[in-house]
Amino acid sequence: MLTHEERQLLLLLGWFRRHYALYLGLSRERPATRESLLQFGLAWFGEHLLGIEPAFSSLEHKGLIRLTKAGYEFREEGLARFAELDVSETFYRYEYDNFFTLSENSPAHARFCERVYGENLNQHGLADTEELQQLLSFVKIQEEADVLDLGCGKGLITDYLQRHSGARFLGVDISPEAIRRAGQIPNPQLSFRVANMNALSLPERFDLITAVDTLYYAADLRKTVEDCLSHLHPGGVFACFFSQWISEEGEKPLLEGNNTGLAQVFNALGLPFEFLDISDSGRRHWRRKRDALLAMRPDFEAEGSLALWDYRFREANRYAEWRSDFYSRYICKVRRAA
Ligand SMILES: C[S@@+](CC[C@H](N)C(=O)[O-])C[C@H]1O[C@@H](n2cnc3c(N)ncnc32)[C@H](O)[C@@H]1O
Repeated sequence: MLTHEERQLLLLLGWFRRHYALYLGLSRERPATRESLLQFGLAWFGEHLLGIEPAFSSLEHKGLIRLTKAGYEFREEGLARFAELDVSETFYRYEYDNFFTLSENSPAHARFCERVYGENLNQHGLADTEELQQLLSFVKIQEEADVLDLGCGKGLITDYLQRHSGARFLGVDISPEAIRRAGQIPNPQLSFRVANMNALSLPERFDLITAVDTLYYAADLRKTVEDCLSHLHPGGVFACFFSQWISEEGEKPLLEGNNTGLAQVFNALGLPFEFLDISDSGRRHWRRKRDALLAMRPDFEAEGSLALWDYRFREANRYAEWRSDFYSRYICKVRRAA
């Protein structure tokens, strides 16, 4: 049995050399010392970082990690435990708990969302109100439909889709902090629950499942798509926003709507699907987001929420700098056989 703190430390060690280090401007090769792991944890988990100091020695004692000249590293069993945890508990859960906590009491963040997305729905993804309207006309949600919103965050996008369709929605997210706040939305057609899309198993079946910029976080995209389809009534629809990034010329075929990482999953499952190309909207989004953040830094600073500004800026800056011909974005929909 691992403690909560030990599990969190395993997640931090497992992510220490991933691209999340680059977001912070850190080398992936830096030594994994106690101090640098704590610094990394604080940058991504904020106040959701637990008191993990005792976990360094208890994990060593349990034979899961060891301290070398280059800092802490996994032993074989520790690496296996990390791999399991990254699917069942996930690093993202703490990252998003932190985001939803930080953005809760930030008027600057609310204004930032209004400016970037057209309305403050405490968005974290890319979908602005124009894209949400495109989804609504692409999918045409029936008033009597039961809808699942996968990765609903704080539920305000779910609420928006509900108000514009009249349907009943269940929103699920891995972040308990997001779901706690979503539960306070005064809309009787909404309900919310903590659930993990890596192991989706809900008692309900749905007419429609939406995923607004959520699928990038799936540990196994094909499994999550299959699980979503199994939660649909026959004839039900799975609709999602999906951006595709590439890093080399040779990968360009991946940018095509019928060949993105997600499209390849649909193709492998033999599922006919439709897509709407919204790549230009996606490209504009990142630049608009970065510009808004640069202009609004003093607002965040004045209210003492620079940690939130930093968090949003490191992502926006990375993608605003991305080559525009190395990026595409789609709304996709696929129907479960009747
Ligand atoms: C980019 S945000 C999108 C949130 C919202 N749909 C939006 O567009 O603003 C990704 C969301 O997926 C959630 N998420 C990440 N991993 C998840 C998982 N394994 N299961 C369920 N939700 C997950 C995060 O907590 C976060 O709320």
